[in-house]
Amino acid sequence: MRTDTGQIVHLADYRPTDFVLERVDLTFELDPTNTKVDARLIFHRREGVDASLPLVLDGDELKLSGLLFDQKEVPASQYDATPDSLTVRDLPAEAPFELTITTYINPEANTQLMGLYRTNGVYCTQCEAEGFRRITYFPDRPDVLAPYTITIIGDKAANPVMLSNGNFLGGAGYDEGRSFAAWFDPHPKPAYLFALVAGDLGVIEDTFETMSGNEVTLKIYVEHGKEPRAAYAMDALKRSMKWDEDHFGREYDLNIFQIVAVSDFNMGAMENKGLNVFNDKYVLADPDTATDQDYANIERIIAHEYFHNWTGNRITCRDWFQLCLKEGLTVYRDQEFSSDMRSRAVKRIADVRHLKSDQFPEDSGPLAHPPRPDSYREINNFYTMTIYEKGAEITGMVATLLGRDDFRKGMDLYFERHDGQAVTVEDYVKCFEDASGRDLSQFFRWYVQAGTPLVSVSGAYDGVTGTFSLSLEQTTPATPGQPNKEPLHIPLSFALILDNGQVAQPKSVTGGEVTGDVLHLTERSQTFSFSGISSRPVLSLNRSFSAPINLAFDQSPEDLIHIARHDSDLFSRWQALNDLALPNLTQAARDARDGKDVGCDPAFVAALLECAGDASLEPAFRAQALNLPSEADIARALGGNNDPDAIHAGRKAIHEMIAKTGEEVFVRLYDEMKTEGAYSPEAEDAGKRSLRSAALSYLTYAENSPQRAAEAFGAANNMTDLAQSLTLLAHRFPDASETTAALASFLTRFDGNPLVIDKWFSIQATIPGIDALERVTALMGNARYNAGNPNRVRSLVGTFAFGNPTGFNRADGEGYGFLADQILAIDPKNPQLAVRLLTSMRSWRSLEPVRAEQARLALSKIANASGLSTDVSDIVGRMLK
Ligand code: PHE
Ligand code: ZN
Repeated sequence: MRTDTGQIVHLADYRPTDFVLERVDLTFELDPTNTKVDARLIFHRREGVDASLPLVLDGDELKLSGLLFDQKEVPASQYDATPDSLTVRDLPAEAPFELTITTYINPEANTQLMGLYRTNGVYCTQCEAEGFRRITYFPDRPDVLAPYTITIIGDKAANPVMLSNGNFLGGAGYDEGRSFAAWFDPHPKPAYLFALVAGDLGVIEDTFETMSGNEVTLKIYVEHGKEPRAAYAMDALKRSMKWDEDHFGREYDLNIFQIVAVSDFNMGAMENKGLNVFNDKYVLADPDTATDQDYANIERIIAHEYFHNWTGNRITCRDWFQLCLKEGLTVYRDQEFSSDMRSRAVKRIADVRHLKSDQFPEDSGPLAHPPRPDSYREINNFYTMTIYEKGAEITGMVATLLGRDDFRKGMDLYFERHDGQAVTVEDYVKCFEDASGRDLSQFFRWYVQAGTPLVSVSGAYDGVTGTFSLSLEQTTPATPGQPNKEPLHIPLSFALILDNGQVAQPKSVTGGEVTGDVLHLTERSQTFSFSGISSRPVLSLNRSFSAPINLAFDQSPEDLIHIARHDSDLFSRWQALNDLALPNLTQAARDARDGKDVGCDPAFVAALLECAGDASLEPAFRAQALNLPSEADIARALGGNNDPDAIHAGRKAIHEMIAKTGEEVFVRLYDEMKTEGAYSPEAEDAGKRSLRSAALSYLTYAENSPQRAAEAFGAANNMTDLAQSLTLLAHRFPDASETTAALASFLTRFDGNPLVIDKWFSIQATIPGIDALERVTALMGNARYNAGNPNRVRSLVGTFAFGNPTGFNRADGEGYGFLADQILAIDPKNPQLAVRLLTSMRSWRSLEPVRAEQARLALSKIANASGLSTDVSDIVGRMLK
């Protein structure tokens, strides 16, 4: 583990390497505890670089055991090796030379899951961002690109499968008991995209014919016996390959594409060239064990990693400050893919919910940073919601600003101009400027300015002149290191909706640029006037969430209801219902805190029920509408001094009121939304199931009995319904005998399937209330729990901290203390996992004073511990600043 040195890396210090890497040739002799790595690297000194400068390579916990220069031993006086660097002096001024570096590494002891490690008897690598330097000394940075040849030698019986990037060259017996396999990847790549997998795995196989007629072999490797559960992932892969051809003209470029599912993985998945490695949770699915959400995640992540082949691999990042160049763009692409596969409006609602619940808090708290940061202490800590989700929003805004055709032209230009290069965000944006002729210099501030902009809105209609004037003012709050903000170029999709639901077509607009239905807000404050408006319109603004901003717009409930009924943009209809709900929920939280009776605006309830019962709307959309803002959303709207118990109680009371008023609607929906026939993970059936389970949830509020949920549990013939009914039982009736029985039967039925047992852990970890901590602690003692496996830890400890506001935020601080102890126990073994748990506390300052003080104490305990990883030290330091 790297303990903190406090060293900071700055974007401004970027310069190219002194030596150019031409070729990489690696030989691995696999051994569980002592793997030998021979790295033959061919370099030459970059033109113009001083001939006296040494070559300095990165390492991390390495020990050098051999160094050859052009196959001859290098005298000790010519180099220095430490665990984290190798410096070689007196190298040729111009001529290329070969260094052969030998290291021995211990995969079995690698608990960080970075570099070469073992998971369930399988050798596996993870090199992004800086894991390759744990395998051999290397110029481990994304702007060093080279073709790789890989030879893997390993015990034949234990490793019938030996994989690496690129195309298979061949393999055979090596010596007694051992065999070898050789791979060649002709596409120059940075080390973070290197991968090696070896072990005894099952496989499913298929083929894909690319647009120019090449046949690609597709293989997905899983543990023996799990092959049938990889079928959906294979299907998603083929659809992704086709979609990228159809929508971006991108074709696959090797003769084989492989995916391996492993059970120990810190993240979701990794886009290694031609050999993606996945957390098995995002590969394995069948109707008995995976929910609709699991299927959707698999489809999305398979696509995401595949799309990286062009956005990330063929064109990569010059340095890690440019991370959003590959991640934001690739998330944008996977969101577009999912929208095309499913319902665009429902996908947008889900993405915006996610953005607001996870990225907005990050952007308004101590960890706020720009999508393109200018310094970091630990790059692992920058795989954030801001880089991924806000990064995707920025590309989405480019598409909105330019329009479909120019956006596509810009992407085409990017692929053409930068193929094979390691580039910057500036290079990317320049392609859109060149393709469209639009100046994006002000727009570029989105990349370098942190914080969620707030746009304040007021509108006025003058019936005499038939003019609607719209005043907008933008501010972006200060964030760490950025006290003052410049105005951004904000594209706001809008509609002026008339009484009859028609959209007004203004005669003319003054005050700023409008293209199609997009207003360009570029000044700090700006007033647009629309003439030729025959009657007072209702303004629908930021339709489809065209910009990732907060709006301060005091729109009347009547106007919101008008939008909820009439907007042709379904997203805006959902947004309007959400905007109607929120003040009721915040008021309910205040009333609950003050011990008052909670009330709810009947007009809001009526609008919600009207939407729920509207058969012209797709079920998935209605389910989203019924899914009220979360406790975290309410906390964010309250803005500070938050009492999670009051928020929970208020929200529960509102649910009960809606449930009572709408009982008939919910009974009918519960009946009507029953799906017929065999389970299908397709969007249509999934949508029905989600509306049916929303109805069931309200019915348990109306009836205040576990009866119906217990029946649903008994009748379920798929994991979606089963997990949903179990959640209702556990969360609403934790002490009922029905709940105890259902939890026990679930456990018996799925024992031996860790991914399903993770659901069993998560459901129990999120049961609201003061008893949650005791429950979680008890479950940690369960034989099925494994504190070394990231999926287990996240499903129990992670969901408790992130997803149980009342249980985790106990006023006595016990939840925070527990988490601090977990973090300190995990950090020495797996810093990335520890840090992930820690970020659950990033909004601690918005808690009411008693809890905030308890949180501060727990964080201080972490901060004061000795030997912290750079990861934890960096984050806890920023959280306490
Ligand atoms: N690059 C991976 C992805 O998005 C995420 C990842 C980062 C995985 C770092 C492992 C380590 O798609
Ligand atoms: Zn990615």
